Amino acid sequence: MNAADITRLTQEALEEVRLAADTAALEAVRIKYLGRKGLLPQLMKALKDVAPEERPEFGRQANTFKQEVGAALKARGQELGAGPAHTATLFDCTVPGQWRGLGSRHPISQVIEEATRIFHSLGFTVADGPDIETEYHNFDALNTPDDHPSRDIQDTFWLETGELLRTQTSPVQIRVMEKQPPPVRIIAPGRCYRRDTTDATHSANFHQIEGLYVDTHVSMAELKSDLTYFARQMMGPKVNIRFRPHFFPFTEPSVEYDFSCHLCDGRGCRVCKNSGWIEISGAGMVDPAVFSIVGYDPEAVTGYAFGMGVERIAMIKYGIHDIRLLYDNDLRFLQQF
Ligand code: PHE
Repeated sequence: MNAADITRLTQEALEEVRLAADTAALEAVRIKYLGRKGLLPQLMKALKDVAPEERPEFGRQANTFKQEVGAALKARGQELGAGPAHTATLFDCTVPGQWRGLGSRHPISQVIEEATRIFHSLGFTVADGPDIETEYHNFDALNTPDDHPSRDIQDTFWLETGELLRTQTSPVQIRVMEKQPPPVRIIAPGRCYRRDTTDATHSANFHQIEGLYVDTHVSMAELKSDLTYFARQMMGPKVNIRFRPHFFPFTEPSVEYDFSCHLCDGRGCRVCKNSGWIEISGAGMVDPAVFSIVGYDPEAVTGYAFGMGVERIAMIKYGIHDIRLLYDNDLRFLQQF
């Protein structure tokens, strides 16, 4: 093949373009000449076999071939109605777009955000800690002895490193107090893990919001009033709160606390199992032993701490009867919030 051949082939190609009767025929011409296995790539391959003195002219002709045939294809395409100019007139900008729908926040995130807003208004900031905790932060520093049942392999996900998936958000208390001197006023929302068999009210993976307030004169009265304020902001203005004596290794005295049922005003209904009360979680005054462990002077400061179950609050607030619904990722469920 030489330069003259290319000139002839160019004429042939232009003629075929001119004769193409519809866009399909035109496309066939394009493939034949400019396609991946078409004539143009063959020309480019042939270039290396051309005698060196003929190469420049051969290259020039090949280039002309590419440009002229390309331009002719484009022009003919527009004539046949496939060109961009024509498509533009077919585009109806008044047709409604395809709506993909906005996402919404997961109920667990909604409760955490709402709780953060409420505690923020009481002067709390948000603290954070790792999901993979040291045994020290999750248990020892929280005054929880070696033989405590929650340290059992049955209750806790232990890792081969000796670390564990935190069973509670309370280790964040320790991490915060290790890092800063009093006063402290933080909440710590986050994921927790326990070896629970999953059922309608248990999940091996759940969320808590920890609270810690340490200063010189913090009392149980403040614990109760702050939790009451929270309960009324979160569940409704008539909600009451009650403390029941309990035990936690890291608070003394310790309580479990309940909200009065926001649905029946405490009279008794299905949601509160006719008791009028809904259990939220534990709380108490920070045990002086914990202050000593983190290097605070137990004679100088007092503090309260609480934990609350996020799923539990979400379930009673939104009337969700099965905790598993919160983790199924079923859009029919999630779109309701
Ligand atoms: N961490 C405790 C639990 O998971 C709850 C708690 C938090 C109790 C803070 C007292 C103070 O059960």
